[in-house]
Amino acid sequence: MDKFKIVGGTPLSGEMPVSGSKNSSLPALAACLLTDEPVTLHRVPRVKDIATMESLLEYAGAKVAHHNGKTCVHARTLDRPEAPYDVVKTMRASSLVLGPLVARAGRARVSMPGGCAIGARPINMHVAALEKLGATIEQAYGYVEAQAPDGLRGGNIHFDRITVTGTEDVLMAAVLAKGETVIGNAAREPEVEDLANLLIAMGANIEGAGTSTIKVQGVEKLHGAEHTIIPDRIEAGTFLLAGAISHGDLIVSDCNPEHVAALVVKMQQAGAEVDQPQADVLRVRCAGRPKALDMKTEEYPGFATDLQAQYLAWMATAHGISFITETIFENRFMHVQELVRMGANIRIEGRQAIVAGEDLLMGAQVIASDLRASASLVLAALVARGQTIIDRVYHIDRGYERIEEKLAAVGANIQRVQQTMRAGADV
Ligand code: EPU
Repeated sequence: MDKFKIVGGTPLSGEMPVSGSKNSSLPALAACLLTDEPVTLHRVPRVKDIATMESLLEYAGAKVAHHNGKTCVHARTLDRPEAPYDVVKTMRASSLVLGPLVARAGRARVSMPGGCAIGARPINMHVAALEKLGATIEQAYGYVEAQAPDGLRGGNIHFDRITVTGTEDVLMAAVLAKGETVIGNAAREPEVEDLANLLIAMGANIEGAGTSTIKVQGVEKLHGAEHTIIPDRIEAGTFLLAGAISHGDLIVSDCNPEHVAALVVKMQQAGAEVDQPQADVLRVRCAGRPKALDMKTEEYPGFATDLQAQYLAWMATAHGISFITETIFENRFMHVQELVRMGANIRIEGRQAIVAGEDLLMGAQVIASDLRASASLVLAALVARGQTIIDRVYHIDRGYERIEEKLAAVGANIQRVQQTMRAGADV
């Protein structure tokens, strides 16, 4: 297992380009299962979760190829419309293939995801929505088995609470269902809109993506298409916070500033200077410690839960006390105990972290527990005195493309240390 060795104290300066969005690419790849023609995607990031999704497509029978930065998927036939446990257990977003497989193949067998470090993460709302579209679903032996031998039919769906991949899953199923589907209380995340744009390019008839009501008129068949994935807003936000926490002057390029507006407002209120020199560029400057500022995670366009851990690391260095409330996942404070080992002063009370800013964080040996938690430890390490060793960085490799190279290029003292196994060690 690789580790990161980071020596803190260098203000970052220079340019950090943002990669394509992981959370847009995952449903986009799943959408490729909806047609027997080739689909070409640009700007799919080369991260572990994407490789996992590609292996699921191949398992089902699709061919996946990479040429000059493009990802080409051709699902001519789907011989095995299944997602096995071994793959699903490493990535909960695997449930995104449920909708497309049952819509195209008339049946799907997808392992049920278990809990994970950030919460229970059930898929009950995906299942109920697909039943509304006429699928017969059984859950047994750890698998969800969906059948719709005569195809799906349109229906009215209203999600009890907002679910991002649930909205995406049912949207992909609805595009091939007979008649009209209306999805109420739909997720408004930019990734949902990006998926809808790909589906429209493939011949789907969709209105309202990006709002809380999406209308779909089913079509008989979809065709091949070419599509460019949107910039990763969580990576962009992580970089902005890296610039601020390190007291640097950083250009974050190839991003969509509108998608990180909630974070930028908070950063400005807390004392960072963030401006937009170009349509797809943000510049962040922050000479010292921020002012403590409360934050509550919300669905888009609110403050993203995927940036909570990184923002909390910044607040751990603030003047004053901030209250950070997590409303989306029930257990997304695993980074807190590790930050405390680095000298942060944080108390958890239910869904709230009470963060008393410290003027000094100290390097320590810490363990990454999930993708965004690992990013928060990297940020804390950038400003901490001395050396931090972060173990289990495979979590960060799931969603950030070459993060240590991008950080080193703007001055961070960061190294990946490959763990060599001792002879005779337990494995
Ligand atoms: N939920 C249910 N039942 C369901 C689905 C969701 O109870 O059937 C609950 C969840 O347990 C959670 C809430 O609803 O408490 C919202 O979950 P949502 O379904 O929106 O999350 P997701 O679709 O599984 C996506 C992202 C996450 C991101 C969340 C929230 C992808 C692949 N994943 O997950 O990203 O945190 O939306 O914005 O798009 C990450 O990238 O690190 C990550 C975890």
